[in-house]
Amino acid sequence: MHARLSGQTDLLGFRNEARALLAHQVPPDEVQWETGSEAEADLFASPPGADPSGARSIPKAATAIVPASFLRLCEVVVLHHDPQRFSLLYRLLWRLVHEPTLRNDPIDPDMLLAQQMAQSVRRDMHKMKAFLRFRQVADDEHPGEVLHVAWFEPTHHIVEAVAPWFARRFTTMRWAILTPERSLRWDGSQLLFGPGGRRADAPPPDAGEQLWLTYYQSVFNPARLKLDTMRKEMPRKYWPDLPEAQLIDGLAAQAQQRSGQMIERPASEPQRRIPRPVAADPVVTLHRDGIRSLEELKAATMRCRECPIGEHATQSVNGEGRLHAPLMFVGEQPGDQEDLQGHPFVGPAGQLLDRALAAVDVPRDAVFVSNAVKHFKFELRGKRRIHKSPSQREAAACLHWLEDEIALVKPKALVALGATAARSLMGRPVAVTAERGRWLERPDGLKVLVTLHPSALLRMPAEDREAAFAAFVADLRHARALLG
Ligand code: URA
Repeated sequence: MHARLSGQTDLLGFRNEARALLAHQVPPDEVQWETGSEAEADLFASPPGADPSGARSIPKAATAIVPASFLRLCEVVVLHHDPQRFSLLYRLLWRLVHEPTLRNDPIDPDMLLAQQMAQSVRRDMHKMKAFLRFRQVADDEHPGEVLHVAWFEPTHHIVEAVAPWFARRFTTMRWAILTPERSLRWDGSQLLFGPGGRRADAPPPDAGEQLWLTYYQSVFNPARLKLDTMRKEMPRKYWPDLPEAQLIDGLAAQAQQRSGQMIERPASEPQRRIPRPVAADPVVTLHRDGIRSLEELKAATMRCRECPIGEHATQSVNGEGRLHAPLMFVGEQPGDQEDLQGHPFVGPAGQLLDRALAAVDVPRDAVFVSNAVKHFKFELRGKRRIHKSPSQREAAACLHWLEDEIALVKPKALVALGATAARSLMGRPVAVTAERGRWLERPDGLKVLVTLHPSALLRMPAEDREAAFAAFVADLRHARALLG
């Protein structure tokens, strides 16, 4: 019996054929699996479900109940290069149906072989993600723009399976990956597949590569060199397409001498700690910064590069509201919307804060709303900017701007929304859940009420959100009560 598949990775075809074969009780050793062009040669032979006499119709499929883990195993094993993989998978399927004990046999040779094949495929996918290097060429279809092209020789039929990973990882670039079997192209919005290519079609080294080599050389730590592990992790097969591979022999030869030099060298100075943010006297900070108004403060934070966040944000986002407002709310840092619009708490967290303020009858323009950190810190994932919490150093570097703001606004009391704000305002770590809803006091005598950050409410499971919102409103009511 011949079972025909449309290509090397035709999982759906395998499932359909296997079901039909099972329905006809065809034992595995009577089936010959064919893929792609070998299958086309015998296109007119009877399919497994057909009765040669044409006298009766035979069901095309059977329902075989197999563990979900077996289906996941099939998804990976079909990508293996071994031509016997489909025979193995059908044999396993047959045996799972006819030998119930197979499910519980951890050392069955067929199952072990399939698992080893899956492992080898997964390793190959990992290597492709880790060792593929793009080189830049002029993009003929988009004059003036760059196309990134890479050559890679996978061991198994993995190109289609890893393609979505590359599309997610390099969304904003236009790129092509050439392999002997398939080529793959991302035009910025969709993946296109084509026939295989040749190594000679891939571009020669580009200028970016030199930069990468310099970087690799400078981060290479001779004291950590483990040649055997390196060879195992980065087999020689990949070296021709890895620019840094040409450096390895040289760096390895110097490793002993360089690690000796490292040991001889005197210890480097530890990084200077930014003094603990103590809310000493905001007015002093204000004079030291030479700030006389909120406008001057805005101009200063716009220029601020005391930590790296400011470099990447659109603008600084300072507090807004009434001068001498009785309550000043302090959040963590502006989010994506705040960064684009230049105003604090205008995104989803801001809308939740507005609802809570409305619930305690405090108009938003009666209070002052700000953040501990004045720039938006994010990580670019594809086209999306994903919020990243500021580090303690970054929050500490921004503290003097917050203190300036407090000195200018002169609120009667502060409300810290979340742990970052609480730490900045109190000059010590604050366990928000333990200390929320109570008045704390700063060294300068200003009272601080700590509560959750509205984003924490947004992240909660829906069933907990209502109660958490009620508790948040209760904290705000407590804050308002101080003001009488
Ligand atoms: N989260 C904050 O902490 N501040 C904002 O301004 C917005 C979201």
